[in-house]
Amino acid sequence: MAKLPSYIVGNWKMNGSAADVAVLQAIAQAAEAHPHVDTGICPPATLIAGFAAHAGQVQIGAQDCHAKASGAHTGNLSAAMLQEAGAAYAIVGHSERRADQGETDADVAAKAEALHTAGMGAILCVGETLEERDSGHAIAIVTAQLAASLPASASGDWLSVAYEPVWAIGTGRVPVSDDIAAMHAALRATLVEKLGEAGKGVRILYGGSVNPGNATEILAIPDVGGALVGGASLKAETFVPIIAAAPR
Ligand code: 13P
Repeated sequence: MAKLPSYIVGNWKMNGSAADVAVLQAIAQAAEAHPHVDTGICPPATLIAGFAAHAGQVQIGAQDCHAKASGAHTGNLSAAMLQEAGAAYAIVGHSERRADQGETDADVAAKAEALHTAGMGAILCVGETLEERDSGHAIAIVTAQLAASLPASASGDWLSVAYEPVWAIGTGRVPVSDDIAAMHAALRATLVEKLGEAGKGVRILYGGSVNPGNATEILAIPDVGGALVGGASLKAETFVPIIAAAPR
Protein backbone atom coordinates (compact mmCIF):
# COMPACT_ATOMS: atom_id res chain seq x y z
CA MET A 1 0.00 0.00 0.00
CA ALA A 2 1.49 3.36 -1.05
CA LYS A 3 2.26 5.70 1.84
CA LEU A 4 -0.13 8.66 1.93
CA PRO A 5 1.34 12.19 2.07
CA SER A 6 1.70 13.92 5.44
CA TYR A 7 -1.56 15.56 6.46
CA ILE A 8 -1.36 18.92 8.28
CA VAL A 9 -4.73 20.36 9.28
CA GLY A 10 -5.57 23.56 11.14
CA ASN A 11 -8.63 23.56 13.40
CA TRP A 12 -9.65 27.16 13.95
CA LYS A 13 -12.32 26.18 16.51
CA MET A 14 -14.55 29.21 17.35
CA ASN A 15 -12.03 31.75 16.06
CA GLY A 16 -11.70 33.87 12.94
CA SER A 17 -13.77 36.22 10.81
CA ALA A 18 -14.21 36.91 7.11
CA ALA A 19 -11.19 39.23 7.16
CA ASP A 20 -9.02 36.24 7.99
CA VAL A 21 -9.29 35.07 4.39
CA ALA A 22 -5.96 36.95 4.20
CA VAL A 23 -4.47 34.41 6.62
CA LEU A 24 -5.82 31.56 4.48
CA GLN A 25 -4.37 33.13 1.33
CA ALA A 26 -0.94 33.46 2.95
CA ILE A 27 -1.09 29.80 4.02
CA ALA A 28 -2.29 28.72 0.55
CA GLN A 29 0.53 30.61 -1.13
CA ALA A 30 3.16 29.08 1.15
CA ALA A 31 1.62 25.61 0.75
CA GLU A 32 2.43 25.73 -2.97
CA ALA A 33 6.08 25.17 -2.03
CA HIS A 34 5.07 21.93 -0.25
CA PRO A 35 2.99 20.01 -2.78
CA HIS A 36 3.97 16.72 -1.07
CA VAL A 37 1.91 17.72 1.99
CA ASP A 38 -1.90 17.49 2.21
CA THR A 39 -2.80 20.77 3.92
CA GLY A 40 -6.17 21.65 5.38
CA ILE A 41 -7.95 24.40 7.31
CA CYS A 42 -11.21 23.91 9.22
CA PRO A 43 -12.67 27.36 9.87
CA PRO A 44 -15.99 28.00 11.61
CA ALA A 45 -18.87 26.87 9.35
CA THR A 46 -19.85 30.47 8.58
CA LEU A 47 -16.51 30.97 6.80
CA ILE A 48 -16.40 27.76 4.74
CA ALA A 49 -18.02 29.15 1.58
CA GLY A 50 -16.00 32.36 1.59
CA PHE A 51 -12.76 30.52 2.26
CA ALA A 52 -13.30 27.74 -0.31
CA ALA A 53 -12.95 30.23 -3.17
CA HIS A 54 -9.49 31.33 -1.97
CA ALA A 55 -7.99 28.07 -0.72
CA GLY A 56 -5.71 27.05 -3.59
CA GLN A 57 -4.43 23.55 -2.77
CA VAL A 58 -5.50 23.92 0.89
CA GLN A 59 -8.49 21.67 1.54
CA ILE A 60 -11.28 23.36 3.48
CA GLY A 61 -13.06 21.24 6.09
CA ALA A 62 -15.76 21.61 8.73
CA GLN A 63 -15.39 21.10 12.50
CA ASP A 64 -18.45 18.89 12.91
CA CYS A 65 -21.54 17.66 11.06
CA HIS A 66 -24.90 16.14 11.99
CA ALA A 67 -25.37 12.41 11.49
CA LYS A 68 -28.71 12.85 9.68
CA ALA A 69 -29.07 14.02 6.09
CA SER A 70 -31.92 16.47 6.85
CA GLY A 71 -34.81 17.05 9.22
CA ALA A 72 -35.94 18.78 12.41
CA HIS A 73 -32.52 19.49 13.95
CA THR A 74 -32.49 23.23 14.59
CA GLY A 75 -29.07 24.80 14.35
CA ASN A 76 -27.32 21.75 12.89
CA LEU A 77 -25.68 21.25 9.50
CA SER A 78 -25.67 18.06 7.42
CA ALA A 79 -22.65 16.69 5.61
CA ALA A 80 -24.19 17.55 2.23
CA MET A 81 -24.81 21.16 3.33
CA LEU A 82 -21.19 21.53 4.39
CA GLN A 83 -20.06 19.95 1.13
CA GLU A 84 -22.21 22.34 -0.88
CA ALA A 85 -20.58 25.24 1.01
CA GLY A 86 -17.13 23.96 0.00
CA ALA A 87 -16.00 21.56 2.73
CA ALA A 88 -14.30 18.36 1.53
CA TYR A 89 -14.24 16.70 4.96
CA ALA A 90 -15.05 17.35 8.61
CA ILE A 91 -13.53 16.77 12.01
CA VAL A 92 -15.74 14.51 14.16
CA GLY A 93 -15.51 13.60 17.83
CA HIS A 94 -13.22 16.44 18.92
CA SER A 95 -12.83 16.26 22.70
CA GLU A 96 -14.31 19.76 23.04
CA ARG A 97 -17.51 18.50 21.40
CA ARG A 98 -17.48 15.23 23.34
CA ALA A 99 -17.26 17.36 26.52
CA ASP A 100 -19.41 20.40 25.59
CA GLN A 101 -22.12 18.60 23.58
CA GLY A 102 -21.95 15.21 25.28
CA GLU A 103 -21.17 13.39 22.03
CA THR A 104 -20.79 9.64 22.46
CA ASP A 105 -18.62 7.20 20.52
CA ALA A 106 -21.78 6.01 18.72
CA ASP A 107 -22.64 9.60 17.74
CA VAL A 108 -19.13 10.05 16.38
CA ALA A 109 -19.30 6.84 14.33
CA ALA A 110 -22.66 7.93 12.86
CA LYS A 111 -21.27 11.36 11.93
CA ALA A 112 -18.26 9.79 10.22
CA GLU A 113 -20.55 7.42 8.31
CA ALA A 114 -22.72 10.38 7.23
CA LEU A 115 -19.64 12.12 5.84
CA HIS A 116 -18.66 8.99 3.93
CA THR A 117 -22.18 8.65 2.50
CA ALA A 118 -21.92 12.25 1.27
CA GLY A 119 -18.60 11.45 -0.42
CA MET A 120 -16.56 13.46 2.10
CA GLY A 121 -13.57 12.75 4.30
CA ALA A 122 -13.51 12.54 8.09
CA ILE A 123 -10.92 13.19 10.78
CA LEU A 124 -11.99 11.17 13.82
CA CYS A 125 -10.56 12.44 17.12
CA VAL A 126 -9.75 10.37 20.19
CA GLY A 127 -7.70 11.07 23.30
CA GLU A 128 -7.47 10.63 27.05
CA THR A 129 -7.99 13.11 29.89
CA LEU A 130 -5.21 13.86 32.35
CA GLU A 131 -6.93 11.68 34.95
CA GLU A 132 -6.99 8.80 32.47
CA ARG A 133 -3.31 9.34 31.58
CA ASP A 134 -2.39 9.35 35.27
CA SER A 135 -4.36 6.14 35.82
CA GLY A 136 -1.78 4.33 33.69
CA HIS A 137 -4.50 3.00 31.36
CA ALA A 138 -4.43 5.63 28.60
CA ILE A 139 -3.66 3.16 25.81
CA ALA A 140 -6.48 0.80 26.75
CA ILE A 141 -8.91 3.72 27.13
CA VAL A 142 -8.06 5.45 23.85
CA THR A 143 -7.96 2.28 21.74
CA ALA A 144 -11.38 1.34 23.14
CA GLN A 145 -12.64 4.83 22.26
CA LEU A 146 -11.37 4.39 18.70
CA ALA A 147 -12.87 0.91 18.34
CA ALA A 148 -16.28 2.23 19.44
CA SER A 149 -16.12 5.40 17.27
CA LEU A 150 -14.97 3.69 14.09
CA PRO A 151 -17.52 3.25 11.32
CA ALA A 152 -17.52 -0.21 9.77
CA SER A 153 -16.80 1.11 6.27
CA ALA A 154 -13.67 3.03 7.36
CA SER A 155 -10.64 3.08 5.08
CA GLY A 156 -7.68 5.36 4.47
CA ASP A 157 -9.34 6.66 1.31
CA TRP A 158 -11.64 8.85 3.36
CA LEU A 159 -10.89 8.49 7.07
CA SER A 160 -8.05 9.78 9.23
CA VAL A 161 -7.70 9.43 12.99
CA ALA A 162 -6.36 12.20 15.25
CA TYR A 163 -4.86 11.31 18.62
CA GLU A 164 -5.36 14.39 20.78
CA PRO A 165 -4.63 13.98 24.50
CA VAL A 166 -7.14 16.32 26.18
CA TRP A 167 -4.49 17.56 28.61
CA ALA A 168 -2.21 18.59 25.71
CA ILE A 169 -4.81 20.76 23.94
CA GLY A 170 -4.11 24.46 24.31
CA THR A 171 -1.84 23.89 27.29
CA GLY A 172 1.65 23.93 25.78
CA ARG A 173 2.16 20.44 27.24
CA VAL A 174 3.00 17.61 24.86
CA PRO A 175 3.49 13.90 25.66
CA VAL A 176 7.06 12.65 25.40
CA SER A 177 7.79 11.18 21.96
CA ASP A 178 7.88 7.61 23.29
CA ASP A 179 4.32 8.01 24.62
CA ILE A 180 3.09 9.39 21.29
CA ALA A 181 4.82 6.50 19.48
CA ALA A 182 3.30 3.91 21.83
CA MET A 183 -0.21 5.36 21.41
CA HIS A 184 0.05 5.57 17.62
CA ALA A 185 1.29 1.96 17.44
CA ALA A 186 -1.64 0.84 19.58
CA LEU A 187 -4.12 2.83 17.46
CA ARG A 188 -2.64 1.26 14.31
CA ALA A 189 -3.07 -2.21 15.81
CA THR A 190 -6.71 -1.38 16.61
CA LEU A 191 -7.31 -0.12 13.06
CA VAL A 192 -5.85 -3.30 11.57
CA GLU A 193 -7.79 -5.49 13.99
CA LYS A 194 -11.09 -3.76 13.10
CA LEU A 195 -10.54 -3.02 9.40
CA GLY A 196 -7.99 -5.56 8.23
CA GLU A 197 -5.75 -4.42 5.37
CA ALA A 198 -7.69 -1.11 5.06
CA GLY A 199 -6.56 -0.22 8.58
CA LYS A 200 -2.96 0.02 7.41
CA GLY A 201 -3.75 2.96 5.12
CA VAL A 202 -5.51 5.21 7.66
CA ARG A 203 -3.39 8.23 8.60
CA ILE A 204 -3.05 8.83 12.33
CA LEU A 205 -2.45 12.51 13.14
CA TYR A 206 -1.17 13.87 16.44
CA GLY A 207 -2.85 16.95 17.94
CA GLY A 208 -2.24 19.00 21.09
CA SER A 209 0.07 22.03 21.38
CA VAL A 210 1.86 21.38 18.07
CA ASN A 211 3.94 24.45 17.22
CA PRO A 212 6.88 25.38 14.96
CA GLY A 213 9.31 24.45 17.75
CA ASN A 214 8.14 20.86 18.27
CA ALA A 215 6.66 19.94 14.86
CA THR A 216 9.80 18.40 13.36
CA GLU A 217 10.28 16.02 16.28
CA ILE A 218 6.61 15.06 16.50
CA LEU A 219 6.18 14.51 12.75
CA ALA A 220 9.24 12.23 12.68
CA ILE A 221 7.73 9.79 15.20
CA PRO A 222 6.86 6.43 13.59
CA ASP A 223 3.23 6.25 12.44
CA VAL A 224 2.56 9.94 12.99
CA GLY A 225 0.98 10.75 9.62
CA GLY A 226 0.46 14.44 10.25
CA ALA A 227 -0.82 16.97 12.78
CA LEU A 228 -4.12 18.53 13.82
CA VAL A 229 -3.18 22.03 14.92
CA GLY A 230 -5.28 24.47 16.96
CA GLY A 231 -3.76 27.75 18.16
CA ALA A 232 -0.71 27.68 15.89
CA SER A 233 -2.93 27.36 12.78
CA LEU A 234 -4.53 30.77 13.30
CA LYS A 235 -1.54 32.62 11.87
CA ALA A 236 0.46 31.88 8.71
CA GLU A 237 3.70 32.65 10.61
CA THR A 238 3.15 29.73 12.96
CA PHE A 239 1.25 27.33 10.67
CA VAL A 240 3.47 27.45 7.59
CA PRO A 241 6.61 26.23 9.47
CA ILE A 242 4.58 23.21 10.63
CA ILE A 243 3.66 22.42 7.00
CA ALA A 244 7.33 22.82 6.11
CA ALA A 245 8.32 20.41 8.90
CA ALA A 246 6.26 17.55 7.44
CA PRO A 247 8.46 14.71 6.15
CA ARG A 248 8.19 13.51 2.56
P1 13P B 1 -3.90 23.29 20.17
O1 13P B 1 -2.98 23.07 19.00
O2 13P B 1 -4.31 24.72 20.34
O3 13P B 1 -3.39 22.64 21.40
O4 13P B 1 -5.29 22.54 19.79
C1 13P B 1 -5.23 21.23 19.35
C2 13P B 1 -6.57 20.83 18.89
O5 13P B 1 -7.49 20.68 19.66
C3 13P B 1 -6.76 20.65 17.44
O6 13P B 1 -7.98 20.04 17.15
